[in-house]
Amino acid sequence: MSAAAELGARLFTDTTLSSTGAMSCASCHDANNHHAAPDTRSVPAGANPGHEAGRQAPSLQYLRFNTRFAFAADGTPTGGFTWDGRAATLADQASGPLLNPNEMANTSIEDVVAKLKRSVNAAEFQKVFGSDILDRPADAFARLLFALQQYQLEDPDFAPFSSKYDLWLAGKAQLTASELKGMALFNDPSKGNCAACHVSAGVGGNPPLFTDNTFDALGVPRNPEIQANADANYYDLGLCGPTRADLAAQTNLCGAFRVPTLRNVARTAPYFHNGAIKTLADAVRFYVRRDTNPEEWYPTDSNGVVQKFNDLPAAYRANVNTTEAPYNRKPGDAPALSESEIADVVAFLNTLTDGYTP
Ligand code: HEC
Ligand code: HEC
Repeated sequence: MSAAAELGARLFTDTTLSSTGAMSCASCHDANNHHAAPDTRSVPAGANPGHEAGRQAPSLQYLRFNTRFAFAADGTPTGGFTWDGRAATLADQASGPLLNPNEMANTSIEDVVAKLKRSVNAAEFQKVFGSDILDRPADAFARLLFALQQYQLEDPDFAPFSSKYDLWLAGKAQLTASELKGMALFNDPSKGNCAACHVSAGVGGNPPLFTDNTFDALGVPRNPEIQANADANYYDLGLCGPTRADLAAQTNLCGAFRVPTLRNVARTAPYFHNGAIKTLADAVRFYVRRDTNPEEWYPTDSNGVVQKFNDLPAAYRANVNTTEAPYNRKPGDAPALSESEIADVVAFLNTLTDGYTP
């Protein structure tokens, strides 16, 4: 790794860089858990008491293969970092948590750099970026973001490709009958159809990443455990805001979030941008029973009517994908996957956990 990346690794766990001196990037992106949250809270607690992040903390693995946000030639939104794609690079992204009052809660760039000056990593920072760097806050802040980015780009831990599935692809491990069946269901366009978005074929000489980094509206249920949701008028609309500001007028994109990789997904519960679904089996079950049995996922109102897609205002519920398999169904239809098939898909997803030893 470069000197900047080595430094970035230390800064990633440097708790000096938060309002309380108790939180670092690693508090929410734990290297011992594939750089995902270390616990199963819906959304992580912030550094300051009473605060919490607005969304589930994703694993930071395999992000080096992502690109900045853009509309593809056919208009498909693609790429960018965070669940709504608003950060163009990993460096841009890193400024978010440092300055977010609900995360590391520093008050300004100057505040961060003043803390960096007091950090055990100050001397190394000056060694890498120049002896006067900490006297130039804007430059120092930019170098801090760069170092954090280089760590994520260069450290092989962020893209180990060491799952059972990778070993199987290389002919060095055997999948069980259930795992193989799950893989077939995952790929089958008329069954799970998962690979339509969570691409299971390698692209550009890389092993498969299980995401195409596009966006889709899945209509995940509202999560009452999230503080912001106490306000019935608050909605996290993903691409169209309010966290992201530039696409507010494109209301056809309201409710769309970026397709995450499914590598290591067995270890990163709870699921989806708001952590509303607690187990991997339920995440798979949600896909196939959302439309056949909506009452299993959404609350009913006082008239007994199921509030389908209740985490979106009524005006945007039509944005939810109801045309592709497996969610092209209605009550009374058979779900695209049976219970035993769901178990097979879960078995397959378990083969995507890195660090497999035969
Ligand atoms: C309090 C918990 C918390 C802390 C601390 C934190 N993050 Fe995050 N991180 C999150 C959450 C929540 C998201 C999702 C944000 C969103 O979608 O708006 C996220 C998203 C990200 C992403 C985008 C992932 C993707 O799939 O596009 C990166 C990269 C990242 N964080 C890096 C960092 C770095 C670097 C630090 C330290 C400077 C850090 N995080 C500190 C909670 C945290
Ligand atoms: C049309 C695109 C599409 C298809 C098809 C699709 N997904 Fe997804 N998947 C997404 C998007 C978008 C998200 C994030 C949605 C959100 O958080 O609101 C997601 C999220 C997930 C998550 C949560 C991951 C996490 O880290 O929280 C799991 C698990 C998952 N998908 C599994 C599957 C399985 C299994 C199938 C097939 C049965 C499937 N997906 C089919 C687009 C798709």
